[in-house]
Amino acid sequence: MLAELQLRNFRCFDALAVEFAPGFNFFIAQNGQGKTSILEAACVLLRLQSQRSSTLAPVVRFGEKAFGVSGRVMDHRLEFRYSALRRKVSLDGIEQRPLGEYLRLGRVVSFANTDIELVRGGSEARRRYLDFLGTQIDSLYRPTLRAYERALRSRNALLKSAHPRPREIAAYDLPLIEHGTKLGVMRARLVERLAPLAGEAHRQVSASAEESLRIRFAPGNGEDFAADLANSHPKELRLRQTIVGPHRDDIELAVERKDAQQYASEGQQRTVALALKIAQARMFQLEEGTAPLLLLDDIFGELDPGRRNALLAHLPADAQKLVTATTMQWRENHIAGPVFELRERQLKAL
Ligand SMILES: Nc1ncnc2c1ncn2[C@@H]1O[C@H](COP(=O)(O)OP(=O)(O)OP(=O)(O)O)[C@@H](O)[C@H]1O
Ligand SMILES: [Mg+2]
Repeated sequence: MLAELQLRNFRCFDALAVEFAPGFNFFIAQNGQGKTSILEAACVLLRLQSQRSSTLAPVVRFGEKAFGVSGRVMDHRLEFRYSALRRKVSLDGIEQRPLGEYLRLGRVVSFANTDIELVRGGSEARRRYLDFLGTQIDSLYRPTLRAYERALRSRNALLKSAHPRPREIAAYDLPLIEHGTKLGVMRARLVERLAPLAGEAHRQVSASAEESLRIRFAPGNGEDFAADLANSHPKELRLRQTIVGPHRDDIELAVERKDAQQYASEGQQRTVALALKIAQARMFQLEEGTAPLLLLDDIFGELDPGRRNALLAHLPADAQKLVTATTMQWRENHIAGPVFELRERQLKAL
């Protein structure tokens, strides 16, 4: 559990400190007061990455050069300082490198309004969903992903050049195939393990036995990536980009055997997105034996009070939860936890 969190020059805050309880912690504020930023700080401290932004540069407070986050997890003191030039990660006062030991201390699952993009949006959202999970569960995931992305970027840059030279392009085939094959296997294994958990979570949240969710990995290349790549050469020279590989991976989502993106109603799509996130949380619990920190950012928008409370009740009971909302009027008494009000960059316990 994350017992306390301090931020410095983080988004809209110059300095803020907060102590968390186990279980639910609620943050109430109007729009633009910094609710998401507090959740983001918890995520950045535990995972060294943001749940809402792919880089950390926008997190630095306007006009400043660096941000810092620190906090306490169990008996450990975590500290992370970021500037464009340097990142410093410390555990109990000792600078860390490699980061394995630090990153083992906390897992995060983030729920946000934008999760519906997992169902409705393009495949990139679904790859990001897998990557956010994969990097937390397998220490080889991030280096493999980065190595693949590097090879892909270089290869695509050559394909886009005025006179692409096949021999130069082919120099990147080997790393692309090597890392791409590994990444594909890791992602396929993730989806396989997620599938039963997502199905179960979906049954619970939709409270319906007929409305079943099936998820399936749809790889961006065939079983023999090298052969696929060789076959795609003429086409990629025409389109000037690499057209097969894990950057085209996707997850197929079907409700009642029909493509959820095309046929599911808005409420059903929300339920699928929610089930996918709950499945992540359960996977940490099952495979790592630790409950992740759950960030629930204003996800109640379209839900009536009954469903809001039902949703909170279905979250893993022993996980710590940070929940934001603009009001608390809807909360039922059995869902207990400290409530903080955020106003003019100050937190007040209610
Ligand atoms: N790097 C930054 N430096 C300073 N302020 C920033 C930075 N990035 C974002 N902000 C501002 O921080 C404020 C709080 O943003 P945040 O997204 O945390 O608000 P929120 O309470 O979650 O709002 P909402 O209810 O609309 O989601 C916003 O006014 C935003 O413009
Ligand atoms: Mg917000």
